Amino acid sequence: QQTLKLAVVRGDGIGPEVVDEALKVLRAVADGALDVQETDFALGADRFLATGDVLTETDMAAIAEHDAILLGAVGGDPRDPRLAGGVIERGLLLKLRFAFDHYVNLRPTTVHAGVTSPLAEPGDVDFVVVREGTEGPYVGNGGAIRVDTPHEIATEVSLNTAHGVERVVRYAFALAARRPRRHLTLVHKTNVLVYAGSLWQRTVAAVAQEFPEVTVDYQHVDAVTIHMVREPSRFDVIVTDNLFGDIITDLAGAISGGIGLAASGNINPDGTFPSMFEPVHGSAPDIAGQQLADPTAAVLSVALLLDHVGRSDLAAAVTQAVEADLADRGTTRRSTAEIGDAIVAAATARTTTA
Ligand code: NAD
Ligand code: IPM
Ligand code: MN
Repeated sequence: QQTLKLAVVRGDGIGPEVVDEALKVLRAVADGALDVQETDFALGADRFLATGDVLTETDMAAIAEHDAILLGAVGGDPRDPRLAGGVIERGLLLKLRFAFDHYVNLRPTTVHAGVTSPLAEPGDVDFVVVREGTEGPYVGNGGAIRVDTPHEIATEVSLNTAHGVERVVRYAFALAARRPRRHLTLVHKTNVLVYAGSLWQRTVAAVAQEFPEVTVDYQHVDAVTIHMVREPSRFDVIVTDNLFGDIITDLAGAISGGIGLAASGNINPDGTFPSMFEPVHGSAPDIAGQQLADPTAAVLSVALLLDHVGRSDLAAAVTQAVEADLADRGTTRRSTAEIGDAIVAAATARTTTA
C-alpha cells in the first residue's frame, strides 16, 4: 500500500473546523487504499501569541519531510493589534509558498449541479486559474519613509523575473493543451503596468510557439471581472500574476456558488518540496467557531492533493462524493460537520457499491 505522509496545518478561525471534515473524507476514501500518516503542526495565531514564533526553521524542516501539506486557513482575530499587517498570513502561508517554491497556484472553478450560482444563467463554467505563487507584489519588496507625517511615501514593488514568469506560463500552456478546449487567457494590466506586462506578454508569445494547438487571448484584469460575471463559460485556462490571481479567484469562487466551494493547490511542479492544498477562503472570523463554515472547499482541496500524489482514482471518489452531496443539498442549512458527514456517507456508499 502506498504511504502518504501528510503535514496538517489547521490554522485559525474556521481552518480547524473545515480541516476536520476534509480529513474525515480523506480517511474514508483512503481506507484500505492509501496509508495516510498525518502529522499535526499547531501553527497559527494562537501559537504566535503564546510563543512569538510563527514558523521556525525547525517547523520548516519537519514539514519538508512530508509528501504534501493540507492547510485550513490562517489569520487570527482581526481586532488584535498584535496580528496587524498580516503577521501570520505572511509569516506562515506566504513563507511556505515561497520557501517550498509553490510557483503554481492552481484554482479551478466549476458550477456543480445542484448549486445555486448568484448568476441567473452561469452556462457551462469550467475554468482553471493558474496564479503565479512566488513573485509579483507579494515579495515584500517595498518600504515607507516619513511614516505618520503628511509626507509619508510608501512603495510596494512588484517583482517579475523572466524565469518565474516563464515557468508558470509553460505550466499553464501544458495544462491548456491537456484540456478539451485548449484555450489560454493571459490576464494582466498591460495598459498601465508596462514593464511587467510586457514581460508577461512576450513570454506568452514565446511559449505559445511550443503549443500551436492552444489558442491564446489576452484580457485586462478589470475587464475579466466583467466577463467572469457576464459570460464565465468563455474561460478555459487563465494565467496571471500573484495579485490579480488572488482577486479574480475570490470572484470565481463567488460565481461558482460560494467561496466555501473553492479549492486550491499550491504546487511545486518540480517535486523538490511538498505541495500545499488549501481552500481559497480565509479564516472567516465572522463565522468561526459556530459550525457555519462550508467545508466543501477543504474537501475539494483534498481531491486536488490526491490527484497531485498520483491517486486520481481517490481524487475522483472525493469529487464524486462532493458532487453527490451538492446535487441533493437543497435549502436546509447544515452544520460544518453535517456536510462533512454527508460527503463521507456519499463516498462510503460509492465504495461499497463499486
Ligand atoms: P474570508 O475568506 O475569511 O471571508 C470572506 C467571507 O466569506 C466572510 O463573510 C466569510 O464568512 C465567508 N466565508 C469564508 N469561508 C467560508 C466558508 N467555508 N463557508 C462559508 N462562508 C465562508 O476573507 P477575509 O474576511 O478577507 O479574511 C479573514 C482572514 O483570513 C484575514 O486574516 C485574512 O488575511 C485571512 N485569509 C487567509 C487565507 C488563507 O489562509 N489562505 C485566505 C484569505 C484570507
Ligand atoms: C489567498 C489569501 C492569501 C493571498 C493571503 C491570506 C496572504 O488571500 O490564499 O487567496 O493573498 O494569497
Ligand atoms: Mn485570497
